[in-house]
Amino acid sequence: MKLRQLGRTGLTVSEIGYGAWGIGKSEWVGATDELSLESLQAARDSGINFFDTALAYGDGHSERLLAQAFGNAREVIMASKVPPKNGIWPARRGSTLEEVFPRKYVLGCLERTLKNLGRETVDLYQFHVWNDDWANQEQWQSMVEEIRRSGKARFIGISINDHQPANSLQALASGLVDAVQVIYNIFDQSPDDKLLPYCQKNQIGVLARVPFDEGSLTGKIGPDSEFPAGDFRNQYFAGGRKQQVWEHLQRLVEDTGITIDQLPGEALRFCLSHPAVSSVIPGMRTPAHVAANVKASNRGPLSAALLEKIHRHRWVRNYYE
Ligand SMILES: NC(=O)c1ccc[n+]([C@@H]2O[C@H](COP(=O)([O-])OP(=O)(O)OC[C@H]3O[C@@H](n4cnc5c(N)ncnc54)[C@H](OP(=O)(O)O)[C@@H]3O)[C@@H](O)[C@H]2O)c1
Repeated sequence: MKLRQLGRTGLTVSEIGYGAWGIGKSEWVGATDELSLESLQAARDSGINFFDTALAYGDGHSERLLAQAFGNAREVIMASKVPPKNGIWPARRGSTLEEVFPRKYVLGCLERTLKNLGRETVDLYQFHVWNDDWANQEQWQSMVEEIRRSGKARFIGISINDHQPANSLQALASGLVDAVQVIYNIFDQSPDDKLLPYCQKNQIGVLARVPFDEGSLTGKIGPDSEFPAGDFRNQYFAGGRKQQVWEHLQRLVEDTGITIDQLPGEALRFCLSHPAVSSVIPGMRTPAHVAANVKASNRGPLSAALLEKIHRHRWVRNYYE
């Protein structure tokens, strides 16, 4: 497993990180704690040292599983997130800082996260939604400085709203943000435009999330796929969307020569081909998926010729709405 710098933090993170939303058993249905713990152990045994979780993932369940798996081993780097107080994902334009991230609420959530993780400090603490109108507000800036001074979070991050990579640039310009987490995959290449060059130039860490577009870029979702009752993918891939993603995928494989079997690995390598990316964080609830995904690191970046073909398949849309 190759390692990369997380921006200017001094943390060295595995190129493949672990996305721990699915194991929280809230919006994703089907995980068992036994298998999730096996997957976490398999990830660690394969050299993964970076784990991304959130208080919102099963109301702390994902965080508690991480604590159960790793205790407070310092070499395991943990990132978590503070959920919006008003429960609205993503943050709406016009929503105020006071509605979404009031100081007392944020500090209270941080305490709950530390208790769940069984740690005195979390390595990276991320705002789980964002609205760049807040970036220059004194209340936000002083809160971030207070958290950092307290030592309860070593570094501060923003998990950027779905498909809005530029809705973070003001916050980054404040110098107070150490890392961003952003949707970046073969379909949504929009971070290439401004965000990734900015982060590279200014040494801000980048976590590439949803590398498989919630599964469509694994090649395993077809027009007739079904998801368990209550699973959020019933909405994400509602109506004709399974057909749409399948058609896009067929064009992608025909044009690039990537086979369906190669697709998950190449989707991860696509993310890692951009030097601004510190770690790509697929969700993987089974040891088999962990074993398959870690191989992408050793295979290095995609060739320039293949990247050029993939760039023609940029397809930005918002299925979360
Ligand atoms: N707003 C936010 O901050 C936000 C939003 C979304 C996601 N995230 C973070 O990003 C992480 C990744 O996103 P995600 O988990 O939603 O979606 P994703 O990584 O795009 O896709 C996960 C899906 O891919 C499957 N998969 C993984 N490896 C595979 C392989 N080698 N072959 C076939 N299928 C494979 C997984 O199966 P199994 O799980 O069944 O193994 C799961 O169904 C999350 O876990 C979370 O940490 C953050």
